[in-house]
Amino acid sequence: MEIQVVGSKLMARIAVVTGGTRGIGAAISVALKDAGYNVAASYGGNDEAANKFKGETGIAVYKWDVGDFEACQAGVAQIEADLGPIDVLVNNAGITRDGTLHRMSVENWAAVISTNLNSLFNMTRLVIEGMRERGFGRIISISSVNGQKGQFGQSNYAAAKSGAIGFTKAVAQENAAKGITANVVSPGYIGTEMVRAVPEDVLNAKILPLIPVGRLGEPEEIARCVTFLASEDAGFITGSTLSANGGQYMA
Ligand code: CAA
Repeated sequence: MEIQVVGSKLMARIAVVTGGTRGIGAAISVALKDAGYNVAASYGGNDEAANKFKGETGIAVYKWDVGDFEACQAGVAQIEADLGPIDVLVNNAGITRDGTLHRMSVENWAAVISTNLNSLFNMTRLVIEGMRERGFGRIISISSVNGQKGQFGQSNYAAAKSGAIGFTKAVAQENAAKGITANVVSPGYIGTEMVRAVPEDVLNAKILPLIPVGRLGEPEEIARCVTFLASEDAGFITGSTLSANGGQYMA
């Protein structure tokens, strides 16, 4: 169980998972809870899914736009008031607006950069000072195989997910001496709504044949990577990218 000694008390560490009520994020929230963390899951808009998740798991949910700095400020302040200082931040929230660049709108570029990359600045900026003061922190950002290798139809998403890797390496260097690690988990194609939204013919003809393991990944397989990187045991790992993609891309 991930606990810390505060004064004479043993306290559960506090973890925030953005986009933590659906898909990979929901699996991460549950895995962290099962590992003994006190978890808060943020979500962007789907109240029905968030309420169902809360009912099924007992995990606290908070609604705000992770691409909006002021909304993040309010969200983080609320979580810290409810649960306490944040020890583990999982930057998981992400969207796709797939399309080839020659047809991509400014809005579809901006929406993906805002949710998938600006959010990393917003959220990490808001927790990093407290982590530095307390001498402990775990920042784990979810990238993608498509940020590592590029992907037809995803110039926006690949740019954001690749950005997460550079961001993490810089944050890792700046905070290594303060007990804070920053790492990336880079999933391949996982069987979530996001991947199931890819046209079936494209998925079957262009993507599945490229996965040597021969199947989509499970959200829990990504959650286990996150739980490991969040643990005390992973204190010597920082600035790294843990790829979990069924062998699709070996970086
Ligand atoms: N590689 C090479 N060629 C491809 C291709 C690919 N991956 N995908 C499509 N094409 C080709 C098609 O075969 C087609 O060629 P022809 O005209 O010769 O038949 C041409 O490109 C146009 O394809 P579409 O008819 O699909 O064009 P579209 O404009 O309707 O859609 C698209 C384009 C939106 C990019 C669509 O192909 C698509 O959604 N592709 C999937 C993109 C993808 O993999 N997204 C990942 C989402 S999951 C995720 O992001 C999670 C994660 O982290 C992994």
